[in-house]
Amino acid sequence: MNITVRHKLAKRLIEAGGEALSGQQLADEFGISRTAVWKHIKDLEDQGYEIESIKKRGYILKSIPDTLEPTAIQTLLKTKRIGQVMKYIESCPSTQIIAHKLAQEGTADGTVVLTETQTAGRGRLARKWDSAPQKGIWMSIILRPDVVPQKAPQFTLVAAVAVVRAIEEVTGLKPEIKWPNDILINGKKCTGILTELQSDADGIQALIIGIGLNANQEVEDFSPEIQEIASSLKMASGKEVNRQELVRALLFHIEQFTNIYIEQGFAIIKLMWESYSSTIGQPIRARMAKETLVGIAEGITDDGVLQLRTADGKLHGIYSADIEM
Ligand code: BTN
Repeated sequence: MNITVRHKLAKRLIEAGGEALSGQQLADEFGISRTAVWKHIKDLEDQGYEIESIKKRGYILKSIPDTLEPTAIQTLLKTKRIGQVMKYIESCPSTQIIAHKLAQEGTADGTVVLTETQTAGRGRLARKWDSAPQKGIWMSIILRPDVVPQKAPQFTLVAAVAVVRAIEEVTGLKPEIKWPNDILINGKKCTGILTELQSDADGIQALIIGIGLNANQEVEDFSPEIQEIASSLKMASGKEVNRQELVRALLFHIEQFTNIYIEQGFAIIKLMWESYSSTIGQPIRARMAKETLVGIAEGITDDGVLQLRTADGKLHGIYSADIEM
């Protein structure tokens, strides 16, 4: 079965806004037989699309399933590169693991891995990541940028800016970035970003950007130990979020901002990151493995290293720490 035709058919039904489209009309538009149209409709129904078929009038789309499977996402996707190839698995240990494997097998730049739930979702510093079924966006994006490995951290900052923009656009909420890459709303974490690298003597083979976004959880969907510090977009806005729209917005903004970064360099991304940051300019406590430093967060370097000035006037580069404000 031709998946592109099925996407186009789904798009056409969505755009018809509840109007009936006849089998003949669809067959003519897509250059296929009416039986082929009917088969595509059945496939869409199997995927959870609710489609009413009325004799002599045709097909009416009644509802779209709340899943992140490719037809639902790609139908209205506005990107050229990111998300053109998608791998969807209903449940998996971690989308990062699948993305690493796909990257080794040579998958295209911009490949996206999506799931409804992860059984071993992983966060930064080998922490576990809560991934409640169908409540969030658990996604890994494979990029193959032509840059030196030292520039990899900059992509995490590019992704953070893109995530903020996507959340703003879809929900109207005003997220902030807490260094290094936590996205917070009202001081609570709603998104985490984990960037991993595959590189060799020739440079970066693949960057795997993992994004965990809490969309529709209620407080009891989080493990007890993070209920005080985690939040979801639904908890913050009081409204259920359309996860499909959010994935499309995320992919769109990640593509836009990676393009800006490649074409115009890091300076503009750094400015945007700092403008969204809740850390910069603030007094903070940086808890590291061996010591804790207290001071003012002055900015980030081009490598994403936090610049912390302590009371004695010394400037410290912080590479990895838990930040308290
Ligand atoms: C963090 O510690 O803040 C980063 C969390 C990243 C979680 C995402 S969810 C999708 C992808 N798969 C994983 O196992 N982790 C990342």
